[in-house]
Amino acid sequence: MTTPDGYRLISPDRDRSAEMLHVVGFAFGFTVPAKEADFIDRIIPFDRARAVEITDSARGPEGALAAVHASFPFTTRVPGGATVPTAGLTWVGVHQGHRRRGLLRAMIADHFERSLARGEVISTLYAAETAIYQRFGYGLAAPALRMELARGTALRDVDGADELTVTVDSADAARDGEIVRDVQRRLQRPGTATSFPDEYVADLFLDIESDRDGAEELRIVVVRDGDVPVAFALFARKESWSDAGPDGKVRVRCWAALDAAATHRLWSVMVDFDLMGATQVDKIAPGDPLVHLLKEPRGAKAAHYDNLWLRILDLKGALEGRGWSADCDVVIDVADEQLPANAGRWRIRATSGNATVERTEDAADLTIGMQELGAAYLGGPTLSALAAAGLVREHGAGAVTELSRAMASDVQPVANLNF
Ligand SMILES: CC(C)(COP(=O)(O)OP(=O)(O)OC[C@H]1O[C@@H](n2cnc3c(N)ncnc32)[C@H](O)[C@@H]1OP(=O)(O)O)[C@@H](O)C(=O)NCCC(=O)NCCS
Repeated sequence: MTTPDGYRLISPDRDRSAEMLHVVGFAFGFTVPAKEADFIDRIIPFDRARAVEITDSARGPEGALAAVHASFPFTTRVPGGATVPTAGLTWVGVHQGHRRRGLLRAMIADHFERSLARGEVISTLYAAETAIYQRFGYGLAAPALRMELARGTALRDVDGADELTVTVDSADAARDGEIVRDVQRRLQRPGTATSFPDEYVADLFLDIESDRDGAEELRIVVVRDGDVPVAFALFARKESWSDAGPDGKVRVRCWAALDAAATHRLWSVMVDFDLMGATQVDKIAPGDPLVHLLKEPRGAKAAHYDNLWLRILDLKGALEGRGWSADCDVVIDVADEQLPANAGRWRIRATSGNATVERTEDAADLTIGMQELGAAYLGGPTLSALAAAGLVREHGAGAVTELSRAMASDVQPVANLNF
């Protein structure tokens, strides 16, 4: 890995958090009032934070930071029900005065190397701009839906929904963090984070006043079956008035529901707040129960967007760590510029839900890039669909269909928590 001349990669200590915030503010275009700026100390896992420091005064003040990134240690649910260790890339920012000099490229190489050394087989992210990360082998593993649900949106009936109880309160990380953890642990949808560190809980519940844009403080709805939480939503309302009367918006930050009854109960509440005209929500998997429960799907104003991007770091570890929905015996030829240990030919033999992935000298049945393998990893986009788009090349007849069926998932992926 080469860092551009005049810069070096470092592990910043917590006492450099204000400098990190300055760089990220410069990259994204925001400024946090000094009285609120200490939030960064709570949300960055400093043992995994990295920064680029200026070493040449021709570049800027020596010792100042020019770029930063960090990552959360997640476990991610994968098809078949297992979880894999994941580096959730976050807080990526290059100061505007240092952009397009290769600092992101250097940080990505560093991120890959350190994540692999920790045994993390995939890296995931939410992209600020979709063009940024594809060149590094990140594929769109979870395309998802966002919706705007009008007040009173009607849902089809679900048995048991009325027996569930609901509480609505201001969000409190200390009290509600465990509820979120508890629900996440039990989510079976591929792409969901099933465990995360305390810093991530602080990030999820972050609610600084300067970032509210006129909305209320962060609130939480929890749905319970007896004492057991089965759904939650973090949200904030913003009031608005028109000549026709109240027309406020509910913005849902994140949500989860463990089954159909919990989904029904949660969304019955979320579309029925007084004075609110609509509820804006994203992180909806294409096959989510919510989608099927809408009586008037057209009225939901659904739109597609990119939810989770995924990069396979350790090809063998990642593919052997997921479940397989059909048997297969296929040789893939992989190109991987950034991580050559993944490149070359691999035989994937799946039987009874598990696969072995071994190096082979045998001829390849298909050629695939890391971006496409990452896109198909969670069972969202199928390999057949990617091949139909000309993104996977088949050499042996039927190989794409065979591998595509083996990698498919009945449950469509989504990452319901952003980072
Ligand atoms: C996006 C960002 C991190 C890129 O950093 P950078 O140091 O300028 O990137 P690099 O110089 O290492 O560029 C690497 C490659 O990515 C390309 N690239 C960088 N940013 C890009 C963008 N926003 N859109 C398209 N391509 C981009 C570069 O052209 C370069 O391509 P090449 O290798 O083919 O020449 C930086 O511009 C930034 O901080 N932007 C604002 C905050 C942000 O979007 N952060 C990402 C959060 S997910």
